[in-house]
Amino acid sequence: MTDTAANDGFVVFDRVQKSYDGENLVVKDLNLSVARGEFLTMLGPSGSGKTTCLMMLAGFETATHGDILLGGKPINNIPPHKRGIGMVFQNYALFPHMTIAENLSFPLEVRKMGKSEREAKVKRALDMVEMGAFGGRRPSQLSGGQQQRVALARALVFEPELVLMDEPLGALDKQLREKMQFEITHLAHSLGITTVYVTHDQTEALTMSDNVAVFDDGRIQQLAPPADLYEKPQNSFVAQFIGENNTLEGVVTEIKDDTCIVRLDGGEVIDATPINVSNVGDRTKVSIRPERVEYNKDRIQEGAHTLKAEVLEFIYMGDIFRTRLRVAGNDEFVIKTRNAPDVDRLVPGQQIEIGWLPSDCRALDA
Ligand SMILES: Nc1ncnc2c1ncn2[C@@H]1O[C@H](COP(=O)(O)OP(=O)(O)OP(=O)(O)O)[C@@H](O)[C@H]1O
Ligand SMILES: [Mg+2]
Repeated sequence: MTDTAANDGFVVFDRVQKSYDGENLVVKDLNLSVARGEFLTMLGPSGSGKTTCLMMLAGFETATHGDILLGGKPINNIPPHKRGIGMVFQNYALFPHMTIAENLSFPLEVRKMGKSEREAKVKRALDMVEMGAFGGRRPSQLSGGQQQRVALARALVFEPELVLMDEPLGALDKQLREKMQFEITHLAHSLGITTVYVTHDQTEALTMSDNVAVFDDGRIQQLAPPADLYEKPQNSFVAQFIGENNTLEGVVTEIKDDTCIVRLDGGEVIDATPINVSNVGDRTKVSIRPERVEYNKDRIQEGAHTLKAEVLEFIYMGDIFRTRLRVAGNDEFVIKTRNAPDVDRLVPGQQIEIGWLPSDCRALDA
């Protein structure tokens, strides 16, 4: 086993690769460890390999290379129904001809549980998702959100140690989605269930997870707690994918311990926090969050970089102002300013000076 997987994770992907056609790897070299009780989210754009990873863990696909371990044991040769995993998918397939209670009872019958025990467990699971009054209805007599709650109860009813969820809230409207996000995390944590959750919604990932694995092109680009992903992206893909981000391109001209100096393509020289920068002369993408940039003179802190900028757009958004600027040749530089009485209102064409702290700006992808 490789060092990255050499810990006691409950779910471990060890150098896992997957190809459907024997040629192209859609999962390239996956090393991932999920602790018991952890809520881990796989987040990434369409086609990045998230569902494929879940399918391999569930046992509906096999890895082309590498091992998947559950509780320390390889599961490559255990069939899906013997893995004891609960599952919820986007197109939750409740059995239409069964009542809600029968739907929930089904996984217990499969496990040869007696009638009275089954009934008690079904009741408990339905109560848990506040659907106790609906046991006698059929799925078609429930709203989308109620069906989704039943699907969740069905995945949990046999008290699995591990639950897999693939975009389970994709079909729901925003309000219901937010309510369900809260309910799912609350349930998972209170029952001590290990959860692997797939989404391409970054807000969902940030608000629900203990850790998030950001996928792109069959690889994990970064695996970190939500705040670290936002505050400390390790490359420009993650910086762009999570939240809004400004990028200025340039060349590294000097590297010190915790800073490096970058000559931007527009000629300006700034210093930045180097992330995996090792060579002078390398091209880099400098990344700065919109809310870390100030333009009101008395708010620009001591030690900040200042650059000239031209205002292209100034938009009132209620709680914030969103300003689009031309900075060092980049027309898409955005800053966000919290609405307060002392904020200077800007107009297109206005020349201003903006500033940010070197510690808020990261030199990536060198
Ligand atoms: N059964 C299959 N046969 C062949 N190729 C497949 C199969 N399933 C997925 N793929 C390919 O593997 C790649 C990864 O697909 P996957 O479904 O894992 O992506 P995803 O990250 O879940 O995307 P989405 O967010 O759209 O659900 C894609 O290029 C897809 O076309
Ligand atoms: Mg998918």
